[in-house]
Amino acid sequence: MSDRVLLVTGAAGMLGQRVAADAKAAGWSVVGTDLAGSDLELDLTDLQATLAVVAEVAPAAVIHCAAFVDVDGAEERESVALAVNGEASGNLAQATKACGARLVAVSTDYVFDGTLTGRPYVESDATAPLGAYGRTKLAGEQAIAAATDDYVIARTAWLFGWPGKSFPDTMLRVGAERGEVAVVTDQVGSPTWTGHLSAALVDLAGGSITGVVHTAGHGQCSWHALTVELYRQAGLEVVVNETDSTAFVRPAPRPAWSVLATERADQGAPVLPDWREGVAGYLSERGSAS
Ligand SMILES: NC(=O)c1ccc[n+]([C@@H]2O[C@H](COP(=O)([O-])OP(=O)(O)OC[C@H]3O[C@@H](n4cnc5c(N)ncnc54)[C@H](OP(=O)(O)O)[C@@H]3O)[C@@H](O)[C@H]2O)c1
Repeated sequence: MSDRVLLVTGAAGMLGQRVAADAKAAGWSVVGTDLAGSDLELDLTDLQATLAVVAEVAPAAVIHCAAFVDVDGAEERESVALAVNGEASGNLAQATKACGARLVAVSTDYVFDGTLTGRPYVESDATAPLGAYGRTKLAGEQAIAAATDDYVIARTAWLFGWPGKSFPDTMLRVGAERGEVAVVTDQVGSPTWTGHLSAALVDLAGGSITGVVHTAGHGQCSWHALTVELYRQAGLEVVVNETDSTAFVRPAPRPAWSVLATERADQGAPVLPDWREGVAGYLSERGSAS
């Protein structure tokens, strides 16, 4: 095991790119893996290849950002989503266990059914996914916990970062084109900027807390409120009409309430900044990239 070597899976993805960059800036020697577009090509559904690559790199820690993230697509392709989110996460956990590396894996608010009211979901709340994506991510959490002890499951929510496909990216483009949008008010969650999550994941990789931690942007809002705040900060004049999920039906059911908070801050779980600061960070990185 090499003390300052960190392996990042999904390193070509929206979160993985940011994690790789932030970990380098924090002094880690970073090796990125992905299906394509990173230091090493690795399909995590291939157990033998995963064991071999992790043994060869011999990292002190792994931040696992690779996933099948198409929430609607997972409804029709659950077995494919399960192979990536479930079984491959277990493969990676076997590999980290074999070489004594710590594993920090990213999971989702969609492991909850959204029926809680009046307070955020915390780590000890019961999971009950509504859809295939959430089921497969929960299977991944369980596979990791079964394979190794030195792991952190970092559940996050409503993730956005640049570059990458995300809700704010879509709304900025559509808003500028049309000048008027309709957005649901009846789903409430914790928007999370990759810049804030990434810093927390890098800290977790070097820390000692184990088990599940909730790492989402502080606070809560609806998709509608997020859109209003996004346009306000971007200085875009767009009419944001209210709608609800009965008028905007999608293949996968989404939890109506998936606000996440941590009950483990006193044990070293990170508390992320407010989601509005995340919007500001996103607009800043997006602006400086264009
Ligand atoms: N986006 C959200 O709103 C959100 C919310 C909560 C949690 N999360 C979690 O956050 C993490 C990062 O998400 P993200 O938005 O950054 O996703 P992303 O941009 O799609 O990145 C995931 C990467 O994993 C790769 N990948 C897929 N299958 C793989 C396999 N079999 N082996 C190796 N790599 C594979 C993907 O490659 P391809 O692109 O070629 O498939 C992609 O480059 C995931 O764990 C996700 O579940 C995301």
